[in-house]
Amino acid sequence: MRNYKIASIAGDGIGLEVMPAARRILDAVARKHGFVLTYTDLPWSSQYYFDHGRMMPAGAIDTLRGFDAIFLGAVGHPDLPDHITLNGLLLPIRRAFDQYANIRPAVLFEGVDSPLKGKAPGSIDMMVVRENTEGEYAQVGGFVHHAHPGEVAIQTSVFTRMGCERIIRFAFELARKRNGRRLVTSITKSNAQGFSMVLWDRCFATVREQYPEIETESLLVDAAAMNFVRRPESFDVVVASNLFGDILSDISAIVSGSIGLAASANLDPERRYPSMFEPVHGSAPDIAGRGIANPLAMILSGAMMLDHLGEAAAGAAVTHAVRQVLSAGQFLPGDLGGRAGTAEIAEAVASFLS
Ligand code: NAD
Ligand code: IPM
Ligand code: MN
Repeated sequence: MRNYKIASIAGDGIGLEVMPAARRILDAVARKHGFVLTYTDLPWSSQYYFDHGRMMPAGAIDTLRGFDAIFLGAVGHPDLPDHITLNGLLLPIRRAFDQYANIRPAVLFEGVDSPLKGKAPGSIDMMVVRENTEGEYAQVGGFVHHAHPGEVAIQTSVFTRMGCERIIRFAFELARKRNGRRLVTSITKSNAQGFSMVLWDRCFATVREQYPEIETESLLVDAAAMNFVRRPESFDVVVASNLFGDILSDISAIVSGSIGLAASANLDPERRYPSMFEPVHGSAPDIAGRGIANPLAMILSGAMMLDHLGEAAAGAAVTHAVRQVLSAGQFLPGDLGGRAGTAEIAEAVASFLS
């Protein structure tokens, strides 16, 4: 029997609630499709920090190395600074395993209302491809005159030709595979950032030459933010730097209904290391502990994980079941205008699995 080793990091807040809901679905679909997911629960989280003074143990990266994939809920706690929690867990994993392609689909599913008026089901169907290892998140810098009145903070972006070219190439390959509008939109701010973004533009110009059948568009990030709202249906694959991709993928999530539906994959496309699958949303402390979090982003991230593991039919079955629940409209979470709880929604998804 095919058996996949999954590192399960539920994390904090609603991560602890959406993780069991998603695992219930993945286990059910695995049984139907004749494979097994063997999870190892790793309690790395803010609670772990309160107990041990760090988010994950020394050697955590080596522990993770042996898994086929990492399934992560969310990280972040109101009593801890976010730079401690995220730089202690999520961000080092993305970097250590060179998960340079963070892909974030945004689809307006049938049965889901966009906050934008007059949007038909399926009209929004895009993929934000976010560079995930360098750029504005390179974490290069420091403090000078620490805690003195003249304190200076330096935070340097790092853009490499290798980093830009490989993510842009990934976006073009995806546009080819997706068979959508066959359009890649590149996002920069090269009118103001005359080095990093200019290098990105040059890389884009080079890579696009190799994909003459794919249409291209280049937008400045401010105009892109506007156009994600004004004409979201015009996008297919959107490729952006780490920070721009982060921000734009919250916009693509909300215009397609809710961040509670937004899935993501942090991929090492070369498969040298485990890839990581997690919802776009965070630990949502404002609703945590009440059993009302929408588990669909986590479940759809699980579908992306199955796809990556080579279980595409099972992944498609999960996505199909989610679509059925949404279009039936009987068990919808609060963020989609319903009243169903986390476990109830997972139950409904399970009932539609084939
Ligand atoms: P958030 O995504 O946690 O929440 C934003 C809003 O969306 C909140 O109102 C929340 O209730 C709602 N929401 C999010 N997910 C939902 C779901 N599944 N169902 C229903 N409603 C949902 O973002 P935030 O409030 O900016 O951040 C909270 C914490 O999470 C912070 O510590 C932040 O650093 C962290 N964070 C972590 C990740 C991650 O682990 N990948 C991602 C984003 C934010
Ligand atoms: C995301 C999150 C993270 C990011 C934070 C929590 C560091 O917002 O995955 O979108 O900015 O990458
Ligand atoms: Mn984000």
